[in-house]
Amino acid sequence: MNYKLTILSAVLGGLALAWAVAGLVGRDGTVRNREVFTEMQYSVAAESQGVNEHLPGGLVEQPPAEGTKYRGQKHYALPAVKWDKLSPEDLARAKNNTGPYAMASQEVRDADAVKGEALFAKACQSCHGAAGALGAPVEKFYPGIANLQTAAAKAYSDGELFHIITHGVRNMPGHASILKTDERWKVILYLRKVQGVKP
Ligand code: HEC
Repeated sequence: MNYKLTILSAVLGGLALAWAVAGLVGRDGTVRNREVFTEMQYSVAAESQGVNEHLPGGLVEQPPAEGTKYRGQKHYALPAVKWDKLSPEDLARAKNNTGPYAMASQEVRDADAVKGEALFAKACQSCHGAAGALGAPVEKFYPGIANLQTAAAKAYSDGELFHIITHGVRNMPGHASILKTDERWKVILYLRKVQGVKP
């Protein structure tokens, strides 16, 4: 009895296994195999950097939503030393760093310069004075604060200003821990405006 039952279960088990394997082998991997809504349409998968006429700007990749916050700082490839400590090669790279506003419209620049003004008031004015033209009360106690309205200050490129704000210069400390990357570029927009330096 037991022996017959064993043979029977072995045969049935073998058949079940063969059925399962045959089912898997015969399956077309490119077709979804269990359709609930057979009238559903499948769209072509979008490439992340591709084009799509239905999206704003015609591109799949869209700018982050309004109010999106950066998590951490963006990568900045130059060494974390003060501007005057950069090697000639790194100084040239800092100089040529055009920043995120190189292609921006005047409208965007003007709007972000307003934000830059508030950031300048918070992070720079206490030392450099209103519009960077000196006159802050701290001057008496902190000798050597630079006037940001001189020809020398106007001659810096945006990228050099970015490095100065990020890592400092001589007696000025770096501000990377106080201003986020995009905030530093906004401060530069504002500074350029009050210096009368055109991009
Ligand atoms: C704690 C005071 C202090 C703060 C805050 C400060 N700076 Fe400075 N900054 C200085 C001093 C001092 C110098 C002169 C450094 C030197 O040449 O020894 C300087 C120099 C500079 C220079 C170079 C000017 C030149 O002609 O070489 C720039 C540009 C500058 N600061 C921009 C800024 C900006 C933008 C901010 C705000 C993000 C800022 N600083 C915040 C003290 C400060």
